[in-house]
Amino acid sequence: MKLFIDSANIDEIKQAASWGIIDGVTTNPSLVAKEGGDFKETVREICKIVNGPVSAEVLSLESGKMVAEAEHIATWHKNVVIKIPCTTEGLKAARKLSRLKIKTNVTLVFSANQVLAAAKAGATFISIFVGRLDDAGENGLAVVEESLKILKNYDSKSELIVASVRSPLTVQKAAALGAHVATVPYKVLEQMLKHSLTDAGIERFLKDWESVKK
Ligand code: G3P
Repeated sequence: MKLFIDSANIDEIKQAASWGIIDGVTTNPSLVAKEGGDFKETVREICKIVNGPVSAEVLSLESGKMVAEAEHIATWHKNVVIKIPCTTEGLKAARKLSRLKIKTNVTLVFSANQVLAAAKAGATFISIFVGRLDDAGENGLAVVEESLKILKNYDSKSELIVASVRSPLTVQKAAALGAHVATVPYKVLEQMLKHSLTDAGIERFLKDWESVKK
């Protein structure tokens, strides 16, 4: 499974990239707004740090305007992937962008039928917001499981992104289900890598080694 970092914070992205396990980055308007920097500069800076897909979202709601916005954003860097919301206008735009060979990430996806539609529109990536489904009392990973079956049934080239991740267990379960990608906030990435028994083990090994030095 590919691991993306879900962040627009340059320090977090640099730090996570230095661990050597990050394959790409996803941003959204809320994440970019939180950092307060210029959108274009932020995306270009991220592309310098991570050599993989970097998602940047359009803000227009009408397909023609989405396509124009996407064509503009796509000139910022060769690795930019255009995030498009999963609406009928968004699907129209995704189809057009696929014909223009511009990579897309159809986002704000909450059902397996939306995944089917996004795949038919030629989406490069499709982002299911697992955490927001769970927050609403639904089962986000069940939607992922059903969607993966659908994509496999028809040999779809679209890759499923497990997004809106709140805990390390979601990443683990997404990988066990065979999801193509999980996009994970920095805090959850750290939680995935750390274990108190690893720290305790190091402490004990170093303490025991002191007797060898004497
Ligand atoms: O970037 C898309 C998604 O991961 C957002 O997550 O936590 O705002 O539901 P969240």
